[in-house]
Amino acid sequence: MPDSFDVIVIGAGPGGYVCALRAAQLGMKVACVEKRETLGGTCLNIGCIPSKALLQSSERYEEARHRLADHGIGVAGVTLDLGRMQARKAEVVSANVRGVEFLFRKNKVAWLKGEGRILGPGRVAVNGEEYAARHIVIATGSESIPLPGVAVDERVIVTSTGGLELDRVPQHLVVIGGGYIGLELGSVWRRLGAQVTVVEFLDRIVPGMDAEIGKAFERILARQGMRFRLRTKVTGARKGNEGVTLALEPAEGGPAEEIRADVVLVAIGRRPYVDGLGLEAAGVALDERGRVRTDGRFATSVPGIWAIGDCIAGPMLAHKAEEEGVAVAEIIAGQAGHVNYEAIPGVVYTWPEVAAVGRTEEQLKAEGIAYKVGRFPFTANGRARAMGETDGFVKLLADAATDRLLGAHIIGPDAGTLIAELALAIEFGASAEDVARTSHAHPSLNEAVKEAALAVDGRALHI
Ligand code: FAD
Ligand code: NAI
Repeated sequence: MPDSFDVIVIGAGPGGYVCALRAAQLGMKVACVEKRETLGGTCLNIGCIPSKALLQSSERYEEARHRLADHGIGVAGVTLDLGRMQARKAEVVSANVRGVEFLFRKNKVAWLKGEGRILGPGRVAVNGEEYAARHIVIATGSESIPLPGVAVDERVIVTSTGGLELDRVPQHLVVIGGGYIGLELGSVWRRLGAQVTVVEFLDRIVPGMDAEIGKAFERILARQGMRFRLRTKVTGARKGNEGVTLALEPAEGGPAEEIRADVVLVAIGRRPYVDGLGLEAAGVALDERGRVRTDGRFATSVPGIWAIGDCIAGPMLAHKAEEEGVAVAEIIAGQAGHVNYEAIPGVVYTWPEVAAVGRTEEQLKAEGIAYKVGRFPFTANGRARAMGETDGFVKLLADAATDRLLGAHIIGPDAGTLIAELALAIEFGASAEDVARTSHAHPSLNEAVKEAALAVDGRALHI
């Protein structure tokens, strides 16, 4: 008789491990299959956490070198010990992944180490052993999309995984793709001394974000020294002794040119990862983009097999995967698990940060929804001035008829933290007026949010 569980989750990323914990909380007997040496998935091992550790360290370095002088603080002889910086990052990752292992033990979730394969409804094989489960949850995540002609070796042509591990600061880093990864890791290496060129196929960076914010973001990053080649495509890469020569062309075609790079970071998006899972044999259907097809409540085409996180539709974000992990565990337990996709924030952790929740102006226009806009710049916020961090603004979008908050977009200091009250406001169906009438501490960056809410009706006080 195979070992038997109520739920077997395949993949221990933020979707899978959170699902396993919630299912255990709800009294189920749970196992989680993970083939990596450590738990936590892409996010904890090679994604969110190590990238934020390096963003933090590189920001400190840049501050010490260039920005403390403004405060009257002289710091002589600032040096970079990249080995120590990378070791600190590894310590941060290690503490986090061990934390998940602790949580598994605490909640009696069994970690089945190895590669999981679905043999059919209720049957999973791990390293030749068969296990039985009433429910199987697929949480196998995603991988970076390869670019034809630019073969990754994770040394000089890298994905984010190699881009987090460089042991030398490249002289010239060329980033292909002006999205989340390209701009975060581009910022890390620029701060540490690299010249960074971002090659983006479209005519703008962060294409999913509000266009006005995207433009401001590009201007600020350019002022920091990042170079942009928009509407440009990379058609090939040639590796030599001295790095890589990339062939570029205008996106719409035209004369080719070459640029040289010490390191090339390919960051043109991620795609679902379901290799070796046996989905076809098990009858689990994929959609046209290779994602596991679900019914909107995480059920796949096979009863008893569910899917969550990066391998299904929706934004590829850790907190989205986590919400889905909780929801599917609750649905399996007979509860009303639910995820509100209207209220999932997205944050680019550069400095300034860029954060958004809800709809963009472009989406509202496309949907024909009449809206009002309220904007407030950080230059008019006392706390931002005291911090010396006045780049950026808050932009709120509210329904013209009902005043209901529909979208919030912030570029500025700590935007990723400021966005939380707006995610909550959207979750609660608040109006701009509700936000405007809420007392915000003075002097705080949050007052810029309140002022933008006032500005929706043309009554901001400090501008
Ligand atoms: P994953 O985290 O990818 O986990 C899937 C796990 O399944 C992996 O550990 C894999 O080994 C395992 N697996 C796959 N197949 C099998 C199998 N057959 N058997 C056993 N195990 C298997 N998101 C944010 O919200 N904020 C950020 O700041 C952020 N930063 C990022 C930075 C980088 C560089 C990258 C690459 C991503 C970042 N993300 C961030 C995205 C985030 O990492 C993902 O959205 C998140 O990890 C998705 O979680 P998941 O559980 O769906 O999958
Ligand atoms: P992305 O989708 O954010 O950005 C990819 C960019 O590459 C886009 O601007 C796209 O137009 C461009 N592009 C596509 N093909 C191209 C080509 N051939 N040549 C030039 N440009 C091209 O993808 P990215 O940065 O790889 O990140 C993947 C995902 O990981 C993100 O979408 C996000 O979901 C997640 N992530 C989240 C982070 C966060 O929350 N802070 C940080 C890092 C990653």
